[in-house]
Amino acid sequence: MLHFAMFQPLPGFRDFFPERCAKRNHIFRLWTQTARSFNFQQYDIPTLEPLELFTQKSGEEIVGQLFNFTDKGGREVALRPELTPSLARMIGSQANSLKRPVKWFNIAENFRYEKQQKGRLRSHYQLNCDVFGEPGVGADAEVIATAVGCLQVFGLSGADFVVRLSDRNLWLHFLESQGKTGDDAMAVLGVVDKMERLPREAVIEKLEPLFGNKAESFLQQAQSLIAIRSLDELKQFFEGLELATELKQTVDERLGQWSSLLDWLEGLGVTDVLRIDLGIVRGLAYYTGFVFEVFEKGDDGQLTGRALCGGGRYDHLVKKLGYPDMPAVGFGMGDVTLTDLLESKGLLPDFIIAPEIYLVVGGDHERKIALHDAQRLRALGYSVEYPLKNQSFGKQFKLAGQSGARFALIYGEEEVKQHQVKVRDLQTGQEMPIMSVYLVDALGQFFAEGIPAHEPEGADPSKL
Ligand code: HAM
Repeated sequence: MLHFAMFQPLPGFRDFFPERCAKRNHIFRLWTQTARSFNFQQYDIPTLEPLELFTQKSGEEIVGQLFNFTDKGGREVALRPELTPSLARMIGSQANSLKRPVKWFNIAENFRYEKQQKGRLRSHYQLNCDVFGEPGVGADAEVIATAVGCLQVFGLSGADFVVRLSDRNLWLHFLESQGKTGDDAMAVLGVVDKMERLPREAVIEKLEPLFGNKAESFLQQAQSLIAIRSLDELKQFFEGLELATELKQTVDERLGQWSSLLDWLEGLGVTDVLRIDLGIVRGLAYYTGFVFEVFEKGDDGQLTGRALCGGGRYDHLVKKLGYPDMPAVGFGMGDVTLTDLLESKGLLPDFIIAPEIYLVVGGDHERKIALHDAQRLRALGYSVEYPLKNQSFGKQFKLAGQSGARFALIYGEEEVKQHQVKVRDLQTGQEMPIMSVYLVDALGQFFAEGIPAHEPEGADPSKL
């Protein structure tokens, strides 16, 4: 026989007890506030989608991690592992009527059957901010600045994280100069994507089928490209390659776009957290241009852990779904690595989950009056609590103290008879009787300033 205690959440899934839920919601709140400050509009998508949407449009890695099954109607379906293909469908379906640029954001739970490890779970929340309909670098700069803002809003700075900016186009141009195009070029990018996490021998092993005995020299060149940290060095690197005239022109144009993107980013004040770093190519299949990932910086300045955020340009996804062409760029930022980072820096407040007001009531008659007031106060936005069964006064005061409420409202026989309520400040122990009709006004004042230390001589509480 099964015992309930045996039911744990599935591996990689989390229960959100109230304290944890409050922290999660705090993150959602600041993400939303920042996305709105950049004028992104919120949208939402279904949790369950046709399997094909992802098998065709996400990268191989994600497809291998799908939670998929056949539904009762015989449809092949999958829990969303990411939002981007669904978003591209939504945008595509209204491509001709949407006012461009379209700037949308969303916060949603994603599901990936990943090997559990630090920073990686099977269910995580992601903030996505995407801009559609603008091919120029202004849109790339906008999403990068939004991502940075979504980290700075928690008090994180360049001392804590770095945005690694890269470019799949430059990589493809470089690979073309090495005779690799099409599927071969994609296969090389697949290796580059994993390079940081693999030992050198394993990388060579993966490159050999593509480069034969030139694998070693290719890796050296790739590593010098990855080591570049400035636009000037990037220019020098490509000048050092023997490029055909047409390719050289394409590379020059691209380097011009780099320069322009860096100008935008400088204007937005985010270059101090930015690092040119071609070590990023992104594992997802749909990326087409500038790509970036954000990483945590350890105390020694080295990058640590899994990415906090990843994104880039994906200009052809909408068209690939069968809709009109629509350039796109965006990012996803996860809650798991961010929560770990904020906790480690002490930047996640401990939320006290408490009512604001606790009612202490005498008998049944007094309760009726008290409940009526509770509903009045709740309608005004106060959080109000009281015992759900008869309790002695002593017990109720104890509960009021334990609840964390700021004020207790006391409805004793005497108070009710005189149409009064006694307000007690649970922090200072101060009390003051208030005429019921003035309760709301008095509470407003008490929450702002506390109960006055002394009732003025001969003061009439009804004059409050
Ligand atoms: P992604 O790099 O797969 O990109 O995920 C973005 C972020 O989500 C990661 O940097 C990480 O913080 C978080 N994340 C991803 N998988 C997990 C996991 N298993 N556990 C915990 N956190 C995770 C995308 O998903 C793209 N669709 C983002 C995008 C939007 N690109 C353009 N627009």
